[in-house]
Amino acid sequence: SDFQLGDFPDYMRKEIAEQPDSVTRALRGRLDERFATVRLDGLGLDARELRSIRRVKFLGCGSAYYAGEFGANLVEELARIPADSEPASEFRYRNPVVESDTLYVAVSQSGETADTLAAVEELNRKGGQVVGAVNVVGSAIGRACGRGVLLHAGPEIAVASTKAVTNMAVSFGMLALLMGRVRDLSTADGQRIVAGLRALPEQIQQVVDSESEIAEAAKRCAHADHMFFIGRTRCWPTAREGAQKLKEISYVHAEAYPASELKHGPLALIDESMPSVVVVPDDELLAKNISAMEQIKARGGPVVAVTNAELPQGLADITIRAPRNSPELDPILLSVPLQLFAYHLAAELGRDVDKPRNLAKSVTVE
Ligand code: AGP
Repeated sequence: SDFQLGDFPDYMRKEIAEQPDSVTRALRGRLDERFATVRLDGLGLDARELRSIRRVKFLGCGSAYYAGEFGANLVEELARIPADSEPASEFRYRNPVVESDTLYVAVSQSGETADTLAAVEELNRKGGQVVGAVNVVGSAIGRACGRGVLLHAGPEIAVASTKAVTNMAVSFGMLALLMGRVRDLSTADGQRIVAGLRALPEQIQQVVDSESEIAEAAKRCAHADHMFFIGRTRCWPTAREGAQKLKEISYVHAEAYPASELKHGPLALIDESMPSVVVVPDDELLAKNISAMEQIKARGGPVVAVTNAELPQGLADITIRAPRNSPELDPILLSVPLQLFAYHLAAELGRDVDKPRNLAKSVTVE
C-alpha cells in the first residue's frame, strides 16, 4: 500500500520509484487523442472562459513554487499567454494587483501550507479567479479554491517532495495544452504534446532503471561543500528544483544559475572543488550549453551533464542520460535524475533523507 515501505529503505526512494504509476494516475481519463487536447473538468472553465484569460500566475512555496515555474513556461509556450510563478509566501505582503482576467493557480501538495492558503484568501477577498492544484482532497487550500486540478500523486510521506512535484508539472502541461488548443495551438502540436504526456511514465521508468549510474555520479560528488545546478529557459526550473532537493536532504549548499549568467559573476567560484550539474536538453540552445560546459571545464570545474543530447566526447566528467520526449516536456523528465542524484548524495553522507533537520512536511504556520 501507499503507506508501506516494502523493499524500499525509505519513503523518498519509494516515492521516486513510484512516479511511472503516479504520472499515469495524473493522466488517466484526461487525454483526448481525437481532439489533441485534454479534459480537466474540475477546473470549471469552459472554452469561452478559458479564452478570456489574459494572464496566468502560479502561486506556491518551495518546490510548489518551482513547479509553478515549469507551469508558467508551458503556458507561455503552448498557449502564448503571459505567465509567471511567484512565491505564495510573498504574494499578500506586496499588495499585489489582482486582475479579473488573470487565472491564479494555487499549487500545494498538502493543501495546508499557511502562506499559500493566505494567498488564496487574499485573492478571494479581491475577486481573483483562483483554482487549486493540490494533492490532498478536502485540504484547506482545495476547499478555499473550490475547483482546480487534482494531482493524484497519492500520499507523499518524505519531507522532500518528488512525485507530487512531477505531477504538478505534468498537470500544468495539461493545463497549458488545454489553454493552447482553445487558442491557436495546432492539432499537430496538440497531438505531439498528448503523445509526449502519454510517453512520460515509460520514460520515467527508464530513468529510474538507470539509478545505479546516477548513484555512482552522486557518490563522486559527495565530497563537495558547494555545487552549481545549471539550466536555462525551459530547464531553469529543473535546475532550481534540483538544487532545492540537494539542499534540503544533503545539507550541501547548492545554487541554481542559468548557463547564460555564469560569466556575469558566479564563474569566479569555479575550481576543482565546485562541481556543476548541467542540465542539457537537446534543444535549440544545445551549442550554447556546450560552450557553458567548456567554460566550466576550462576553470577546472567538474561537470556532471544531465542530458538527452549527444555531447562531444570527453566534455563532461560524468554523463547521466535520459530519454527524449518533446522539447516542452523534456524539463519534467530531466528532473527525475536530479531527484535520484540528491537522494544518493544525501544517502552517501548518511543523512536522514525522509526527515531532514529543521524541516516539516507541511508548513501550517507562518
Ligand atoms: C519540497 O521538497 C519541500 N519540502 C517544500 O519546499 C514544499 O514543497 C513546500 O513547503 C510546499 O509544500 P506544499 O506543496 O505542501 O504546499
